[in-house]
Amino acid sequence: MQFELTEEQLAVQAAARDFAKNELLPGVIQRDIESRFPAEEIKKMGELGFMGMMIDPKYDGGGMDALSYVIAMEELSKIDASASVAMSVNNSLVCWGMENYASENQKEKYLKPLASGQKLGAFALSEPEAGSDATSQKTEARLDGDHYVINGTKNWITNGSKADTYLVFAQTDHSKGHKGISVFIVEKGWDGFTSGHKEDKLGIRASDTTSLMFTDVKVPVENRIGEEGFGFKYAMETLNGGRIGIAAQALGIAAGAYEFALAYAKERKTFGKPISQHQAIQFKLADMATTIEAARLLVYKAAWLKDQGKDYAQASAMAKLYASQVAMDVSIEAVQIHGGYGYVREYHVERLMRDAKITQIYEGTSEIQKIVISRGLLR
Ligand code: CAA
Repeated sequence: MQFELTEEQLAVQAAARDFAKNELLPGVIQRDIESRFPAEEIKKMGELGFMGMMIDPKYDGGGMDALSYVIAMEELSKIDASASVAMSVNNSLVCWGMENYASENQKEKYLKPLASGQKLGAFALSEPEAGSDATSQKTEARLDGDHYVINGTKNWITNGSKADTYLVFAQTDHSKGHKGISVFIVEKGWDGFTSGHKEDKLGIRASDTTSLMFTDVKVPVENRIGEEGFGFKYAMETLNGGRIGIAAQALGIAAGAYEFALAYAKERKTFGKPISQHQAIQFKLADMATTIEAARLLVYKAAWLKDQGKDYAQASAMAKLYASQVAMDVSIEAVQIHGGYGYVREYHVERLMRDAKITQIYEGTSEIQKIVISRGLLR
């Protein structure tokens, strides 16, 4: 068993930490207030190679392992979970799936600009009546000669109005249930395709979450990934990896809140000494640090299994389930340690507490993770 990071992984960690401190931190509070998408910051993240980290360099990716990706997600999420979710969706749900399942032509045309960060991707699975129950897709794609005609509505789509390239799931044969779901690459601006209402959210307020509407959108047959009916498998396989990314985001939120609280506890004085000298605070810090370390081990282990080519569905569900709970618990305690200062924006921890909640909901709620875990146990 090896617990030390390689030199390359340490370099990725240092680069992500510097970027978070120098580029994300200065505007993060204002972007949260204004619900303003970090467009410039994400462009720079692309230039630094954060948007297609695990993709083969022949498709303009970084050629790195999943553990490096997780480490970068953790560092960026300590400061800005809105930027990191855009990164996570692009890396794990869009680029990774395309590299593994798309045709060479699709990879040349669509994967390269996504992996290099010139373009941004979105993953359009959820619908108003198909969230956790993802097999209940109502959006349909009807074959008409050399193209499909897509009609339907998607909901809660990360990067919804900001993406250039969308992976869209739709029923090509309702009679086959989830085996009748297919996945298509759709470009922004195609006739009949629009983004709708932007959600006004509790947390990750700077991330762009919208609905998508499809009215008779013509999509060439060559933009279908894999065979008809392959879409649900694509969704489940990519979500297994996506959940490692969100687990790393949750870990980062927890670690970020802890680091702010630790620094504050050393500075803030009450009853004649720094509050870090009070046992009430010391015990909180001890619990926070211990649960963060346990979450880190689960998240890194899931990434390691993926890197080894072993089954990681259950490990990624466990990592997400646990790390998202730790993100909630630790960020609440970080606010408590800050007292009244924790309740105002300037000290960052109230934002991290609001951001933490979504990690228990998107890419499969905690309850869905328990379904995945228990099915693995009982198989
Ligand atoms: N990995 C691989 N395959 C899986 C799987 C997994 N984790 N979970 C299910 N499957 C497969 C099953 O093996 C089955 O395949 P076969 O028919 O070939 O045997 C198929 O999927 C259907 O599974 P079930 O029969 O178990 O279907 P179900 O309806 O009972 O349960 C579910 C499916 C696990 C609940 C699934 O619907 C699910 O994961 N729901 C959550 C969806 C989700 O995570 N949405 C997130 C939206 S994306 C997002 O949030 C991104 C963002 O913008 C941030």
